[in-house]
Amino acid sequence: MIKVGLLGCGTVGSGVVELLDKNLETISRRMGDLIELTRVVDQDLDKCRALGIEESKLSSNFDDILYDDEIDIVVELIGGIEPALTFIMKAMEQGKHVVTANKDLIAEKGKELFDMAQAHKVDFYFEASVAGGIPIIYPLKQSLAGNRIQEVIGILNGTTNYILSKMSEEGHSFEDVLREAQELGYAEADPSADIDGLDAGRKIAILASIAFNSRVTVDDVYVEGISKITPSDIKFARELGFVIKLLAVAKQAEDGSIQARVHPAFLPYKHPLAAVNDVYNAVFVRGDAVGEIMHYGRGAGKLPTASSVVGDIIDIGRNIVYKANSRISCTCYEDKPILDVSQLKTQFYIRMTVKDRPGVLAGIAGVFGSNNVSLATVLQTTHGGEMAELILITHQVEERDLNDSLAVLKGMHIVGNIDNVIRLEGMDIM
Ligand code: HSE
Repeated sequence: MIKVGLLGCGTVGSGVVELLDKNLETISRRMGDLIELTRVVDQDLDKCRALGIEESKLSSNFDDILYDDEIDIVVELIGGIEPALTFIMKAMEQGKHVVTANKDLIAEKGKELFDMAQAHKVDFYFEASVAGGIPIIYPLKQSLAGNRIQEVIGILNGTTNYILSKMSEEGHSFEDVLREAQELGYAEADPSADIDGLDAGRKIAILASIAFNSRVTVDDVYVEGISKITPSDIKFARELGFVIKLLAVAKQAEDGSIQARVHPAFLPYKHPLAAVNDVYNAVFVRGDAVGEIMHYGRGAGKLPTASSVVGDIIDIGRNIVYKANSRISCTCYEDKPILDVSQLKTQFYIRMTVKDRPGVLAGIAGVFGSNNVSLATVLQTTHGGEMAELILITHQVEERDLNDSLAVLKGMHIVGNIDNVIRLEGMDIM
């Protein structure tokens, strides 16, 4: 009998309780042993009672899991850094295996957690921490382990993907769609971690660390959110054959250097990720043997996330049955350089307002040219007034060269405003 202690009766916790109950027989047969939810701990026991859990299994004291020698696996679903970190560390010290969905914790305290798991020879699984129900961590660690991974590009945040999809379909502003998403319960009351890109930043830090075998923390990830995207940018993107997505990008160059960034991007409409809409998530991976693959599905929600948590529980259960725990431990055995975003070469979209007069275009092109920025596409629209809107797509340029050009342009009297600058991504799929 594999005995499980659950910490947290929130959305994901309730999904785990439901799934373990609904598919109990199949889960036990697949695992090779019986499984029991032995103890459930939460500060708010009424939440747990509402799930129909027997009173004798409930407790508001974590020690009732920690010091129960019969409990093999602790499932942490309370989220946040503390007290989750302390609970997990103590559980590992007691020789218990741990499953968590806590991306904040892995992205910030990954090293400490893996060191503790290794020291006590316990399993530490966290499939649900990235992209909810989509299997990506285990596939990277196992099924794709024969590859040198070149890139991982994800749509890892459902809230922002929903907002950008709706802006694109309906032509509404970011503010209007955000308000609508909050009213429908798709966006949090405080949506800043989602819309500013931090949530996706944590997730890509985790995926980059696994894909490239080198620790990438959330502080190493360049992060930019979607609040500056306007219906105008979406319209020009469409005219030029692109969609705008909040992408989480991790790449490894031939020399082993790593880049990790989250930002809105122009993505060619032919790219597989361009078809990922609404609250859906997807992860596109390129490996030297497998080529390009994409995992698609629900990145959040009660049962999709519980699906990943229960998958982890089953795998740990199998390890217990076959006495093979600690088989897959920390895979960050290298220390690769992480490039600053200013060192990267990318194509850019630039939307600017300029005076509509002879010689203006030549003056602007001259500034770009003298800063090593080569232009690929130039589009001009006029609204009959003194000013014109200029849309530029550059060839691949170093970000610092682009920033130098923009700094000069901002000071020129022929330039009204630099309205937006957005990177292009996925151009090798065109
Ligand atoms: N808030 C996230 C999203 C889900 O919008 O995708 C949890 O990581």
